Amino acid sequence: MKGIILAGGKGTRLYPMTKVVSKQLLPIYDKPLIYYPLSVLLLAGIKEVLIISSPDAIDKYHELLGDGARLGVRFEYKVQDTPRGLADAFILGEEFIGNDSVCLILGDNVFYGQDLTRAMKRAMTNDGATIFGYPVKDARAFGVVEFDKDMNVVSIEEKPENPKSNYAVPGLYFYDNDVVEIAKNVKPSKRGEIEITAVNNEYLRRGKLKVQLFGRGMAWLDTGTPEGMLKASEYVEAVQSRQGFYVSCIEEIAWRRGFITTEQLIKLGEELKMTEYGEYLISLAKGE
Ligand code: DAU
Repeated sequence: MKGIILAGGKGTRLYPMTKVVSKQLLPIYDKPLIYYPLSVLLLAGIKEVLIISSPDAIDKYHELLGDGARLGVRFEYKVQDTPRGLADAFILGEEFIGNDSVCLILGDNVFYGQDLTRAMKRAMTNDGATIFGYPVKDARAFGVVEFDKDMNVVSIEEKPENPKSNYAVPGLYFYDNDVVEIAKNVKPSKRGEIEITAVNNEYLRRGKLKVQLFGRGMAWLDTGTPEGMLKASEYVEAVQSRQGFYVSCIEEIAWRRGFITTEQLIKLGEELKMTEYGEYLISLAKGE
């Protein structure tokens, strides 16, 4: 399975912060926002990742993450000229995806919790498409999924005024290879975007859309507003300082997944040894 991180967009809701810096490069506590979705793909065991961003930002992502070899994985980069919509990821990613299945994660989505890996492993064995449902107080700002008592999806709507459930659809999606052809046939919505919800609706029409629910133990944090970013940073700081384990540390995950050796982890730690982050990597390697 391949992975795609969609890290473009104009970030206008975060102006002036994002006037000259791409949103997913901004920090959430001690690391760039894009580390969080990237860590999710690595946790799923995905080793080939396409990073999509805007023309002015793509080189920065490349500078930050390189070709992936340092983490024992492979990164490719692709420019999205304008933010045409989330489904564009599969059109831009057609060649990269090839004949494989694919997981899409939005570059501004932060997930953390014990069930995440298990939930993703299950999604990876399903045919068709798998989306997730996450309970929120107000679902109007999201894709919203409605399902029956047997967990069959009944409807999925994008930012409905009157949500049919309080389950938002987070920005993490698993698809078979049909997604490329489906995305190409999506018509722009009222807001002029080719919506991921339209892709999911086509899977629903074909009887191939599954939903899995995330429970209380999972954190799915909003980074869409300055307040959301601050709260996400506070959450990461609270977990890290309490437990001593880092949240979404891509080097740690690459090491625990066996993508890099302990010697490689030490080297990555030494490059950052002027920081607590670097010290953390070295302490992991030494088993402290
Ligand atoms: O966060 C989950 C929600 O994400 C879902 O519940 C919705 O169904 C889905 O449509 C999406 O809603 P948003 O309106 O919040 O998406 P937004 O336009 O903010 O874009 C999400 C990320 O994708 C953001 O980091 C910018 C990036 N992006 C967005 C578009 C439209 C791109 O890189 N290219 C794009 O064309």
